[in-house]
Amino acid sequence: MYSAKQLSLLALVLAQLLAVIQGGVNDNTDNWVVADKTKNFPENAVLGGFDSTGYNLYVGRTTSGTSILPVRVIAETRVATFNSDTAVSTATTYDLLVSNATLSYNWVRSFDGYRESNAVSVGTNSTNDQVFICRARGNSAQIIGTLFPAQKKCLIRYGTLAMNSYDKYEILVREHKPLNWIPY
Ligand SMILES: *[C@@H]1O[C@H](CO)[C@@H](O)[C@H](O)[C@H]1NC(C)=O
Ligand SMILES: *[C@@H]1O[C@H](CO)[C@@H](O)[C@H](O)[C@H]1NC(C)=O
Repeated sequence: MYSAKQLSLLALVLAQLLAVIQGGVNDNTDNWVVADKTKNFPENAVLGGFDSTGYNLYVGRTTSGTSILPVRVIAETRVATFNSDTAVSTATTYDLLVSNATLSYNWVRSFDGYRESNAVSVGTNSTNDQVFICRARGNSAQIIGTLFPAQKKCLIRYGTLAMNSYDKYEILVREHKPLNWIPY
């Protein structure tokens, strides 16, 4: 017979295995559309910042290994890049976040990995933790990065620049607006 302690240890191991298997699940609370380079860039894509060459950066997400990570997309070139806690990469397939008449997005000041209510999650990472979207200013740019709550930092790596880590940053939150009722 197994002892209660052994059984709970087994349950813990199984739960962790399951978490690993389940990692990389998209969050569908918000409206994410698969980016299609043959179509016009969505008008209601959510703006996140700009790079040092003046291109606007829009909010997207991609799957990297078994993690879902925030992506910044240039509308003109459709180039989409993202960073993990170590590296910067280019995404070939990605989703774009879009607003609608009753759902809009704001950037709010935050710090130290604080869990803002209504923060937009792109999905889960390989350890099954929710991944959030942050941004910060620096080097004549405002770049979208990845919030790592455990490290209490917004990590941003863009182009050839070194990794930057911010303990004060902005985080993307959703706002539900009532539809204006128009009487006849
Ligand atoms: C906006 O998107 C949300 C989330 O998908 C949805 O619940 C809501 O009905 C949408 N609003 C409109 C006006 O389409
Ligand atoms: C997943 O997110 C958690 C919480 O931020 C973090 O501690 C962990 O390192 C992340 N795992 C990976 C593989 O990025």
